[in-house]
Amino acid sequence: MSESEKPRRRPRIVLVAGARPNFMKIAPLLHEIERRGALDAFLVHTGQHYDAAMSDGFFRDLGIREPDANLEVGSASHAVQTAQVMMRIEPILIEQRPDAVLVVGDVNSTLAATVAAVKLGIPVAHVEAGLRSFDRSMPEEINRLLTDAVSTWLFVSEPSGERNLRAEGADPARIHFAGNVMIDTLLAQLERARALDTVERLGLTPGGYAVLTLHRPSNVDDPVRLGALFDVLEEIHARVPVVFPVHPRTAEAIGTQLGGRDLALRTTAPLGYLEFLRLLADARLVLTDSGGIQEETTVLGVPCLTLRQNTERPVTVEQGTNRIVGGDPHVIRSEAAKILDGEPRAGRVPDRWDGRAAARIVDVLERDLQEAR
Ligand code: UD1
Repeated sequence: MSESEKPRRRPRIVLVAGARPNFMKIAPLLHEIERRGALDAFLVHTGQHYDAAMSDGFFRDLGIREPDANLEVGSASHAVQTAQVMMRIEPILIEQRPDAVLVVGDVNSTLAATVAAVKLGIPVAHVEAGLRSFDRSMPEEINRLLTDAVSTWLFVSEPSGERNLRAEGADPARIHFAGNVMIDTLLAQLERARALDTVERLGLTPGGYAVLTLHRPSNVDDPVRLGALFDVLEEIHARVPVVFPVHPRTAEAIGTQLGGRDLALRTTAPLGYLEFLRLLADARLVLTDSGGIQEETTVLGVPCLTLRQNTERPVTVEQGTNRIVGGDPHVIRSEAAKILDGEPRAGRVPDRWDGRAAARIVDVLERDLQEAR
């Protein structure tokens, strides 16, 4: 049979996930692509996150099937981790010859897969494009800028994404306001999460506790800043129990930077997706330096104080329940007190955070990839 007589295969798309916050973004996209069946999906796990609590548990909770390839890159410096993903994904891309590569978010795996793909002439779709903190000391900001600069499809989750991309000169025809895939997952899983007894098991009462997460290098790698943050967080804990699932980077910093300080907080190991969602949904207050949690609390209507100087997700402040409080203990103390004293915090759910973002994205990809044949 000559090449032209062979039945043409479906357009193939390689989906890349590497670190914890990627998994809830990849899940609805993979499910939507496989449910429709028009595209052939090949799933790559880079292995940037590898602990059971940071990876396998999420695959299970979110019903993500076994990856077709696991690059097992593990932890390393930025350059080494990024280079390892590039080196290990390149032969897979050459062998699979996909019509597109889909990346999500802003982690090192996102950037590495993008660079490897575009240099092989494979177009890249970036989901969660255009977010900008305008803080180039954040590794994620560098990953976002570079990934967007060379991606063919730019799927944005909020209006600021489109504004930022246009200001950088991106071709408007490449920008698609798809909505938020992470919220697709939240809405799909909320009922299952609410059925768990996580809150009761931890001896807490709904509406009677705070949740803390902390893992940004800018907070945890500086012992003075980290110590000062814990001082004020312990004060808050004296008023309302503060539950703190500790990220591995932070656990290490508490050991090395703070001499193994014994925190007066309710610490736990990292939690699975569903257990953590249950905790968030019933919290009185959330304190975090995560990106995604700012979005999740906005949809849940739970007050959120972001322990950073800026956010790349301004819609959570403009429309949602988020407030940027930085690292100043006075500000953190007084903003937490306002919430605990019952100050109302009205918010609304941003446009297109409606559970249909993955469907909008797959509509565009199916159309463009089928047309390109
Ligand atoms: C990465 C992302 C960050 C994201 C975060 C979510 C980059 C630049 N950063 O940061 O944007 O918000 O994931 O978690 O991509 N470790 C383990 N087990 C694991 C993974 C990591 O113990 O499964 C430890 C290792 O000591 C490692 C450290 O955590 O050195 C940091 O991991 P790394 O993937 O480099 O960055 P994160 O801080 O997790």
